[in-house]
Amino acid sequence: MLRLDGKVALVTGAGSAGPGWGNGKATAVLMARQGARVLALDNRAEAVEETLGLIRGEGHEAEGHIADVTLAAEVEAAVAACVARFGRLDILVNNVGGSFPGGAESMAEADWDRQLDFNLRSAFLGCKYALPVMKAQGRGAIVNLSSIAALRMSADRPHVAYSASKYGILALTKSVAMEHARLGIRCNTVIPGLMHTPLVEHRLVRQLGANDAAALIAKRDAQVPMGKMGDAWDIAHAVLFLASDEARHITGTELLVDGGISAAMP
Ligand SMILES: NC(=O)c1ccc[n+]([C@@H]2O[C@H](COP(=O)([O-])OP(=O)(O)OC[C@H]3O[C@@H](n4cnc5c(N)ncnc54)[C@H](O)[C@@H]3O)[C@@H](O)[C@H]2O)c1
Repeated sequence: MLRLDGKVALVTGAGSAGPGWGNGKATAVLMARQGARVLALDNRAEAVEETLGLIRGEGHEAEGHIADVTLAAEVEAAVAACVARFGRLDILVNNVGGSFPGGAESMAEADWDRQLDFNLRSAFLGCKYALPVMKAQGRGAIVNLSSIAALRMSADRPHVAYSASKYGILALTKSVAMEHARLGIRCNTVIPGLMHTPLVEHRLVRQLGANDAAALIAKRDAQVPMGKMGDAWDIAHAVLFLASDEARHITGTELLVDGGISAAMP
């Protein structure tokens, strides 16, 4: 089940913001374990090196690529590098993204633009340059990363651009899926809920937690109906499923990985 033998996967943001497992890093490693050859893309050389070390250390095949996924020329070059190295591209995971706080009134226009570029344009560019390769192959699977922030808003902690861009991911996914449904290319979204990734200790503790990591983790755990945040492996397994042949009849949809948050009474 869920084997990716013979497939080539490009995972963007294949490192993590701090020590531990981010969604992209876990996805890249899991796909390699399942038999894919992986192009691990990140804009930081040390992140690429770390993920490559993990994958190769387990005896699997991977190549690294340093690129900023908000820049068209760099995304185009990354896809070309993947094809040059591995001869094909079967799976694209558009994982790069992140939130910046602010409401419609308080957010600077430049921050809005940066968030849209970071979260939505990045995924658009990935699709734009991967699709011709997948079309030529007659098959491919794209998985885009959204966020529970697209579906559930907080009155006291708005991040308007993050929510809007992550909601945009849902429409981008459906549009790409419909345009390519008869061409053997599927496109789906994974929607993470509150996850315990390095982001929590690395950034959120400073931003929201008054530097009290234990209190912030307890608060986030308590918000989840299942009683605990998920982690990067929960996301990686969902991405793996949607990218795999076992999901061959699934396109243009979303898989929520949120411990029940979106089903709960507020
Ligand atoms: N962590 C969570 O709790 C959570 C919750 C909901 C959604 N998500 C989504 O999951 C995805 C991954 O989140 P994460 O917290 O695991 O990631 P992360 O913040 O740990 O970042 C992953 C990697 O992306 C790289 N990166 C950053 N900007 C880049 C760029 N412009 N080009 C290329 N690489 C870049 C970083 O160097 C890092 O190694 C994001 O789309 C995020 O919005 C995460």
